[in-house]
Amino acid sequence: MNDNINILAIESSCDETSAAIVQNGKVLSNQIATQKVHERYGGVVPEMASRAHIQNIIPVVDVAISDAGINKNDIIAVAFTQAPGLIGSLLVGTCFAKSFAQARNLPLIAVHHMQAHVLAHFIEAQPQFPFLCLTVSGGHTQIVLCRSYLDMEVLGETMDDAAGEAFDKVAKMLGLPYPGGPLVDKYAATGDAHRFKFPTNEMKNYSFSFSGIKTSVLYFLQAERKKDPEFAEKNMGDICASVQHTIIKVLMTKLEKAADDLGIKHIGIAGGVSANSGLRNALIKTGERKGWHVYIPAFQYCTDNAAMIGITAHYKYLQGAFTDLSATPSARASWS
Ligand code: KG4
Ligand code: ZN
Repeated sequence: MNDNINILAIESSCDETSAAIVQNGKVLSNQIATQKVHERYGGVVPEMASRAHIQNIIPVVDVAISDAGINKNDIIAVAFTQAPGLIGSLLVGTCFAKSFAQARNLPLIAVHHMQAHVLAHFIEAQPQFPFLCLTVSGGHTQIVLCRSYLDMEVLGETMDDAAGEAFDKVAKMLGLPYPGGPLVDKYAATGDAHRFKFPTNEMKNYSFSFSGIKTSVLYFLQAERKKDPEFAEKNMGDICASVQHTIIKVLMTKLEKAADDLGIKHIGIAGGVSANSGLRNALIKTGERKGWHVYIPAFQYCTDNAAMIGITAHYKYLQGAFTDLSATPSARASWS
């Protein structure tokens, strides 16, 4: 008799096809197939993402199960990302999870992708509640108050572009391939963050706006390229460092305000942009100054992965929060 809570988790919301096995809240395997096909288009092409998910999903699940050293028969529940994301991509993971669950008569667990980014912290650490998380990804920028594993509230979010989107769009203007965030990070390490100044929009409370930075970089590059067509190539380090510094300043100012207002000292960052070295350092520095306990996920749990879906599903399993075969994916889902 197998008493372990072995959950098969599937993540397919955007351009990573991922499967993980989480056993009793510990990650046994986390297989991720990154779709290279989008690079040449400068962004994710939804239809191509769906097709790649269809090709990848069975081999990725197969490897996740064998990597975990378990057998299909040991799995007792199946979890999948239900929302938010690209609808065609979500459909592939949802249909696979439903089919697997139905064929093996297993319970299904639907997971909210943004909630999973936050709970990725609990894979390797145990932040104390109440816990404040700045979730920064390609599609979202949110400050989330976590009262318990599944009781979360979005205190503020972006009114236009997400932080990751700002990184990617600036990278595209600089002629860098998609996704540009990691490359901006790399070039920023070689540049002077104070050489160029980019204005930011003042936003109320805990709201963010990144469209102003994007537009000011666009006009700045247009003007400089008129004088010297190779301006961006010659000043790549300084431009990337200055843009990165501006984005991080906006993020950290709001996070610090929220932490002060709520008197919370357990603070984390999550989502793809939490892989950014400048943001990671800024959190550590601010944490030292403010006496915070800071939480930074390991790199493999920052960007999209099924381990975070599995850990969220583990807590949902403990609460009996199952869904049935009528569950449908949603591109935009309200926080629940
Ligand atoms: O969480 P994620 O994998 O997917 C979404 O849920 O959107 O985040 C992807 C985003 C992309 O915009 C990517 O450029 C950004 O995270 N990103 C970074 C870094 N690594 C990933 N941005 C800045 N610096 C990085 N090192
Ligand atoms: Zn994500």
